[in-house]
Amino acid sequence: MRFSVMTLFPEQINAFLSESIIGRAREKGIISVDFYNIRDYSGNEYGKIDDSLYGGGTGMLMECEPVYRCYQDASKESKPYVIYVSPKGNVLDQKKVKELSKKDHVAILCGHYEGIDSRVLDEIVDEEISIGDYVLTGGEIAAVTIIDSVSRMIDGVLPNEDAYTNESHMNGTLEAPQFTKPRVWHDREVPEVLLNGNQAEIDDYNRTMSLIETMEKRPDMFDKLELSEEDWKKVLARKRQN
Ligand SMILES: C[S@@+](CC[C@H](N)C(=O)[O-])C[C@H]1O[C@@H](n2cnc3c(N)ncnc32)[C@H](O)[C@@H]1O
Repeated sequence: MRFSVMTLFPEQINAFLSESIIGRAREKGIISVDFYNIRDYSGNEYGKIDDSLYGGGTGMLMECEPVYRCYQDASKESKPYVIYVSPKGNVLDQKKVKELSKKDHVAILCGHYEGIDSRVLDEIVDEEISIGDYVLTGGEIAAVTIIDSVSRMIDGVLPNEDAYTNESHMNGTLEAPQFTKPRVWHDREVPEVLLNGNQAEIDDYNRTMSLIETMEKRPDMFDKLELSEEDWKKVLARKRQN
C-alpha cells in the first residue's frame, strides 16, 4: 500500500514512521510513504504558501495553488484517495481504518496555521477525517495516526492476523486485561485460569473479561452489543467473583 503525504513538515512525520514496526514494514516494502512538501510548490522564491483571510480574522490560510500543484504531483503515477485531515471531518475509528487498509494509494493532506482555502479542498478531497474533537496546530499528528493504524491492518506488517483480530475495537469490544511474568507482582496474582493450559477455558475467560472491560470502561460501546443469555450469565458470575 502506498501513502503520499502532502505537508509543510515532512521530517516530523518521517521521523515517527521510521522506527519500530512501521519502520520495518517500510524497509521490507510492505508499505511505502512518500512526502510532498507543499512549500516546494509555492511558485515564489520565498516559499510563501499562505495569506491573510478574506473577511478578516486572525492568522494565515494556506493558498489553493501550492496545494493544488502538490496534489497534481502526488497523483502523477496513480490517482490516490485523498484525505484532508481536519477537525471538521468524520472521527476516525477502527471501521474506517479497516476500510482504508483496502485502498492501494491514499494521499493525506495536512493543513497548518488556520487551515486551507476551501476551494481547493472542494476540488481535490475525497474525505475529511478528524482524529478527535479538539484542534491541533497542524495535520501531521493526524497523518501519522492514520498511517500507523491503517498499516498494522496490512498483511505482513504484524507477525500474523491474530496480533490484531482480538484487539480492542476490532469487534466492538475492548480487549481483556493482559499479563506477563512475573506471576505475582506487588501481591497481585495473574488469574489462575490463564496458567492452566486449557485453551478453550482461557478463550472463554478472555471473552467474558473482554465484555466486562467494555462494560466498565466504555458503557457506550457495551450498550451497542447484543449479548446472548449465556454471555450475560458468565459476565454476572465473573463480576460477582471479582
Ligand atoms: C489549527 S488547525 C485549523 C483549524 C480550523 N481553523 C478550524 O477551526 O476548523 C490547522 C490544521 O491542523 C489539522 N487538524 C487540527 N485538528 C485536527 C483534528 N482534530 N484532526 C485532524 N486534523 C486536525 C488540520 O489539517 C488543520 O488544517
